[in-house]
Amino acid sequence: MPHNISVRNASVDDVDAIHALLVPFAETHIILPRTRDDLFQHLQEFLVALYDNELVGVVAVHIYGSNLAEIRSLVVRPDMQRHGIGRLLIEGCEKWAVQLGVARIFALTYVPDFFGKLGYPRVRRESLPHKVWTVCVHCAKFTDCDEIAVEKRLSDAPIEPMKILPIIEIQQP
Ligand SMILES: CC(C)(COP(=O)(O)OP(=O)(O)OC[C@H]1O[C@@H](n2cnc3c(N)ncnc32)[C@H](O)[C@@H]1OP(=O)(O)O)[C@@H](O)C(=O)NCCC(=O)NCCS
Repeated sequence: MPHNISVRNASVDDVDAIHALLVPFAETHIILPRTRDDLFQHLQEFLVALYDNELVGVVAVHIYGSNLAEIRSLVVRPDMQRHGIGRLLIEGCEKWAVQLGVARIFALTYVPDFFGKLGYPRVRRESLPHKVWTVCVHCAKFTDCDEIAVEKRLSDAPIEPMKILPIIEIQQP
């Protein structure tokens, strides 16, 4: 029977499974730790990958004030790696970021070759704005960071301005 892999927005019902997936990678400092409360508060940033309805992958897209987004908390369950799920999650992030009008998306990572396969060249960490580093105080490697910055330009086309809804005239009774 063919198996079904899908990527969708996370829901509150996914939080425990997301947390369980992230914990071992946070404990080995591959990703930043995230509490359940933190996951609930930022749930709208998360996409999950499902394999036959079982949660096997997760990623978050954090939007900065300008046209820049960060890929965070990317994990595929170890027994499901190298089956294209990471690629699907990143493609989901990119589609979402484009819809939001974000022009550049980056990651700080120990797997630059994975990102390289998906069209993310390495960039100088100093090219990222200072605010990117504010979450790093929670990292055990804060003073000794050896992550590699990778970045992709999502579109060279000018970003369409947000469509403004027509003003509705309200008739006074
Ligand atoms: C990195 C990770 C998310 C990749 O997910 P995945 O589902 O195994 O990746 P995919 O199967 O979609 O791989 C896409 C491509 O990248 C390649 N690739 C995957 N992992 C790679 C790695 N560590 N190094 C180099 N290439 C890699 C694959 O071979 C594939 O190439 P192909 O298209 O030529 O066949 C997964 O290995 C993981 O969860 N790692 C531990 C946590 C981690 O490091 N997260 C990143 C935080 S920024």
